[in-house]
Amino acid sequence: MTRVIGIVSGKGGVGKTTFSINLGIALRNLGRKVVVIDCNVSTPHLAYYLGKENYSVTLNDIFREEVDVKFAPLDCGGVMFIPASEDLKDVINIDILSLRTHITKLCKGEEFDYVILDSAPGLGREALSVLQTCDEIIFITKPTIPTLTDITRVAEVASKMGHSNFHVVLNMVRNKNYELRALQAKNLFKTRILGTIPFDEIVMDSTALGIPIMWHKPDSKVSVSYLNIAANLAGIKYRQVSKLRKFSKRVKKFFGGIKKSATKFRS
Ligand SMILES: Nc1ncnc2c1ncn2[C@@H]1O[C@H](COP(=O)(O)OP(=O)(O)OP(=O)(O)O)[C@@H](O)[C@H]1O
Ligand SMILES: [Mg+2]
Repeated sequence: MTRVIGIVSGKGGVGKTTFSINLGIALRNLGRKVVVIDCNVSTPHLAYYLGKENYSVTLNDIFREEVDVKFAPLDCGGVMFIPASEDLKDVINIDILSLRTHITKLCKGEEFDYVILDSAPGLGREALSVLQTCDEIIFITKPTIPTLTDITRVAEVASKMGHSNFHVVLNMVRNKNYELRALQAKNLFKTRILGTIPFDEIVMDSTALGIPIMWHKPDSKVSVSYLNIAANLAGIKYRQVSKLRKFSKRVKKFFGGIKKSATKFRS
């Protein structure tokens, strides 16, 4: 059965889109079929973070019923994705709350093991559409008190909507005294922490280049964290994961050529 996972946060800029893509790649490395969907239609970033500048189909086309969701996923290095349009005129006259109908249709064929919904932050219409659609929620948060408390507000709304399957990921961890540790966060949320991801500026570099960190630096601590998180989510032991990192290296080699042309294009 397809698992529909919402990548959600209280605050913006905590790393949801970065997480969605790299989780998708990590799950793909584990042999899972994944589609990552940009549900942040007002400020979409998914395609940019994947280094994709030209794409034929967007989530906005699906909302306008111009494209059937089943034919929408685009291939990027083995990870399927559906971008949202960056054209402002495409934000008008779309029914964001129809997301659930389209994702239900997409799941019917059981073509994918995971549908990953990259949400907008907070509790606006876009974020609510993701909460309405997903079966499981991964909250992305920095390990600081204000960011964590914002999540508890979203979690409360999600609970009222009938959700109980929550995971938490602590992102941009610097191990400073003012940060909450994983155990403290676990006690606060009364749910398990799916994983922690260190703060590393190479993530920002990879974002600027349009090459996900899992491809750009597959041996970095951040990439290993993504693999651990994917393994946790899929219920696979870490030792099996380390063998699969070789696959990630091969993909990196393949994308070496693309990296050069992407850098040239953006400069
Ligand atoms: N572990 C990390 N270490 C350092 N920088 C990171 C890390 N994870 C994400 N970032 C950076 O943080 C910035 C924001 O990330 P991202 O766009 O994924 O956040 P977001 O939650 O999707 O934002 P929004 O709420 O606006 O959609 C990006 O520049 C990204 O490179
Ligand atoms: Mg985002």
